Amino acid sequence: MNFELLSMDLAAAAQLPCDTLVVLVPTPFKPQADEVSVLIQDALDAGDLETKPGKILSLYRPLQAQADRLILVGAGTASLAHIRTAITSACSGVKGSSKVKNLVISLALLPETQGAVSAAMNAVADVSYAYTTTKSKPEPRLLRQVVVAVKGGKDVAGEFKQAQACIAGVEFAKEWANRPANHSTPTHLAQAAEGLANSSKNASKITCEVLGPKEVAKLGMGSFMAVAQGTQEPLRFIVLEYIGSSSVKSSAPNVLVGKGITFDTGGISLKPASEMDEMKFDMSGAASVLGVFKALSVLKPNIRVVGLIPTCENMPGGRALKPGDVITSMSGQTIEVLNTDAEGRLILCDALTYAERFKPRAVVDIATLTGACVISLGNLRSGLFSNSEDLARQITAAGDAAQDLCWRLPLDDDYAEALKSNFADVANVGGRAGGAITAAKFLHRFATKYPWAHLDIAGTAWKSGANKGATGRPVPLLLEFLLRNQTALTFTASDKTTEAAKAKPKPSAKSTRKTAG
Ligand code: BES
Ligand code: MN
Ligand code: ZN
Repeated sequence: MNFELLSMDLAAAAQLPCDTLVVLVPTPFKPQADEVSVLIQDALDAGDLETKPGKILSLYRPLQAQADRLILVGAGTASLAHIRTAITSACSGVKGSSKVKNLVISLALLPETQGAVSAAMNAVADVSYAYTTTKSKPEPRLLRQVVVAVKGGKDVAGEFKQAQACIAGVEFAKEWANRPANHSTPTHLAQAAEGLANSSKNASKITCEVLGPKEVAKLGMGSFMAVAQGTQEPLRFIVLEYIGSSSVKSSAPNVLVGKGITFDTGGISLKPASEMDEMKFDMSGAASVLGVFKALSVLKPNIRVVGLIPTCENMPGGRALKPGDVITSMSGQTIEVLNTDAEGRLILCDALTYAERFKPRAVVDIATLTGACVISLGNLRSGLFSNSEDLARQITAAGDAAQDLCWRLPLDDDYAEALKSNFADVANVGGRAGGAITAAKFLHRFATKYPWAHLDIAGTAWKSGANKGATGRPVPLLLEFLLRNQTALTFTASDKTTEAAKAKPKPSAKSTRKTAG
């Protein structure tokens, strides 16, 4: 899909020949001196059009415009959320239509708010996206050309470019998350990552290193390996790095860590059959990291970013991890596995330890970690946890700006009580109460050396039901965060005074790590 940004008023947009012209009509409506404005005023007066977000009035070959179809759509207060609702409603017919190949969206009636162009572009990309990879007769996306027509007082070229990159990233993430588990194994994900590095356009900026079972064993990632031991499918540990130019080569990078469980059966603590297919989406965190690197390859900002993806299947089997088993993580901490279905944290903890070697500015992990997070926040906001006030604020602000929302949940040390074990340093599950928080507390123990944030995307990474499919979230949030986060984060002393921070790995295990790492 090709986007074009034009600055013109509504009168000029109405003169563009196209299949469909979409005009956003906000409250209050201030008519311009053109015929479409007159039409809108008449329709509003007659009660045939409302400015409520998403209300539409469609016209066929109206005399007031060159387009075959004119869709007037209510844009509410023209907030970013209302713009998204308006575009989604106006364009929902586009996906199934064989007629709409080029579309013009006029934002000329809206106040020129920061993010409006981006919100409109992301919404049209989202509704027109179609998954095709494993269909024998794929219906290709017919929408080819989207013109975004804005008033043009404000310079939105930068926002437009970022939105284009963001959309490429979101669609890359959707593609990989949507692929069934037999078409998206750890090996396939590693190939996707290598593809990003080897594409001739990116060769100089993105590098990729893929570790297999042998290398991972040598690093001492006992926790990650334990999850993978029940499957025939070999694990992969993917290390991606984006370096915008030599000037940022030795700067402290932001590190993204994505949970890459390509299928989560629960292991010996087997999940029930209903909706188990959706556990192919359990690598959505990994997909979002790949998506961000795709976006970086398009936008080419002058920053440094590292992406880490521990990826494997979680399967039952004769060699599978058993409830009660005690395993040793790369950090040296021992873990009693009380439930093999709490596997995400077991692969992430070793990646969080591996992240230390980059002396990161900040580490953000992204994971479809808990059903409890879905109960807490539903499908609107991702769960955010952080050991740094500063980082939490920045991520929340990035999510607001990108309309990819999150909400901070607490990390009080008392929540860690639930993870006490009689047989190891820590158990991998607490009770049912506060399940999203106890999962985050588990990760917290492994993220003591840098500012860290954890995004639980269990409720936001995909949709269930008739529109089952990946959302590409939180690529927009992450991209926005990385682009804003140019100045050093401060990790205050008070942020550090947690029990987890005080816990020291056992010396013997530490020396193993040194020789191996
Ligand atoms: N991948 C799941 C989390 C999940 C569940 C995401 C449902 C989206 C929808 C994760 O590995 C898991 O199974 N978590 C368990 C943890 C429990 C055993 C403490 C859960 O949430 O039930
Ligand atoms: Mn699980
Ligand atoms: Zn899982």
